[in-house]
Amino acid sequence: MCGIIGYTGSQSALPILLDGLSRMEYRGYDSAGVAVLCDGKIEVEKAHGRLQNLIEKTGDGHALPGFAGIGHTRWATHGAPNDINSHPHVSGDGRFAIVHNGIIENFAELKAELEARGHTFVSETDTEVVAHLIESYYKGDFKAAVMKAVSRLEGAYALGIVCADHPGTVFGVSKAAPLIVGLGIGENFFASDVTALVSYTKNVIYLNDGEFAEVRSDDVVVYNEIGRPVEKTVSRVAWSIEAAEKGGYEHFMLKEIMEQPAAVKEAIAPRIKGGEIVLDDFELSAEELKKIRKIVITACGSAYHAGCCGRYAIESLTRIPVEVKLASEFRYEDPIIDEHTLMIIVSQSGETADTKAALEEGRRRGASVLAIVNVVGSTIARLADHVLYEWAGPEIAVATTKGFTTQLVLLYLFALYAAKKLKKLDDFEYARLLGEICSLPKRIQNAIDLNGQVIPRLAEKYHNKGSIFFIGRNTDYAVALEGALKMKEISYIHAESYAAGELKHGTIALIDDGTPVVAVCCNESLLEKTANNILEVKARGAEVLALSFRENREIIAQADDVLFVPKTETVFSPAVAVIPLQLLAYYVARANGCDIDKPKNLAKSVTVE
Ligand code: F6R
Repeated sequence: MCGIIGYTGSQSALPILLDGLSRMEYRGYDSAGVAVLCDGKIEVEKAHGRLQNLIEKTGDGHALPGFAGIGHTRWATHGAPNDINSHPHVSGDGRFAIVHNGIIENFAELKAELEARGHTFVSETDTEVVAHLIESYYKGDFKAAVMKAVSRLEGAYALGIVCADHPGTVFGVSKAAPLIVGLGIGENFFASDVTALVSYTKNVIYLNDGEFAEVRSDDVVVYNEIGRPVEKTVSRVAWSIEAAEKGGYEHFMLKEIMEQPAAVKEAIAPRIKGGEIVLDDFELSAEELKKIRKIVITACGSAYHAGCCGRYAIESLTRIPVEVKLASEFRYEDPIIDEHTLMIIVSQSGETADTKAALEEGRRRGASVLAIVNVVGSTIARLADHVLYEWAGPEIAVATTKGFTTQLVLLYLFALYAAKKLKKLDDFEYARLLGEICSLPKRIQNAIDLNGQVIPRLAEKYHNKGSIFFIGRNTDYAVALEGALKMKEISYIHAESYAAGELKHGTIALIDDGTPVVAVCCNESLLEKTANNILEVKARGAEVLALSFRENREIIAQADDVLFVPKTETVFSPAVAVIPLQLLAYYVARANGCDIDKPKNLAKSVTVE
């Protein structure tokens, strides 16, 4: 949602805060702001719009001298994205400044209470209330005032706080929202995301739910909810800053598309030992698997689509029924879940509020939980019984690509692992399918190579269309869902996906002369059926862009344009078929001059319901 950062040390704070914010801008880009402690006073600067506005307003980071401060990049929830509502927010007496990621659910009630006690507010935000609340409890002890105020807050949030009376201290609070402390030499940090820290330090502490960090240049103390110091493990970040930079690509999204062969390999290779799938540090025995009566995959957006694709692999290999549920709907459905249910929670960020709520609901009803997550130490990873990390490295573009394909391969590995344990296939078939999974990085590379030159030209044909339809059946339909989402979110072209057989039940009324239809035709057993659907839309004037393999003569003959992918085992084919659709969305958005890495109204990690 938003990104927050804190710094204290021997260097000038402002350039470090701005650099950290630039690496977290993907989390929110409606406005940005900083507060720096200068000569016993808090100096605040804010600017609505992109971070660049703030950088310019602060003379490239030279305007505010001082060695400690906090910063924020915002995705607006309470109040319009203008300068007044931008963070940091300051207490009435100017003694405290605060940055905040998340939501304070009881802010209206606290605001009324504080107003009755004479406090006046300038913004519409929930955050300003926290600054005033801390002020109201302050009697000279910074930590005590923060703790007292936080004990009154309801919601999920991370906070960064400075106090004019304590110029070398920055306070971080984590309540069901991520906050990571970075440990330097003579300087220390905190941030919502390790990407803001890795160019300064790789030694980090992940704060748990309800913990506070009192951060000084030479010391960090972490406290639990009741204010007792806790021993924390220092973790080492496994990737370098280059992973979070564009490395010569025009956009992070293109870089991340191109990284997929390596990312998928990184997700698969360490999990295969001596020809067997090894699921990290846990094992599910045949007995445990036999007790599972159904699997429920829950997620949002693209991660939900990964679940839709993965369902086919799990059901066909294990014969365990799988339901795929939108996390935002799940908890309101009175879901039929019990101790015989395995929930698979899929989330790149590991912070999505709806997905986390679904996890908690499933847990409450007795299900065991396996999480597929990319961000190490994230909330969902910490709440699950078992975690499979995607090992995709940092994903910066708001639209997910390598996050999605690594989720897919982990679902495939899980499916094959469970099928073997349940003796649903013989050794020969197991080895063959494992070989198919291991060949996915090569096939993904092939899908990039086959289309890298063609798609930019095709994008010229499609970029000014008002609407694009994506169709497919079975696994191809699951891919069409993701293809349409990619297209709409970054190019702003209306795009819808339909199960190809459903068109004639209504939607075909929208197909007219020149309507673009992308037909995904990679599921070998259904090619003939999809070919008929292509004929149906062509008969109404549609222009068909088919996605298939070279051997598929019939579809090639019918389509106006074709994107090729290498033939792949059907249940694993979404991991390959999605690649040209990612590239198509990318180049169409580029032709439309869209801000590809930061699409309008979106944020990378959606930590509100
Ligand atoms: C689309 C996209 C989103 C996310 C969704 C879930 O490109 O990135 O639809 O997939 O917001 O996010 P995570 O996986 O972080 O839970």
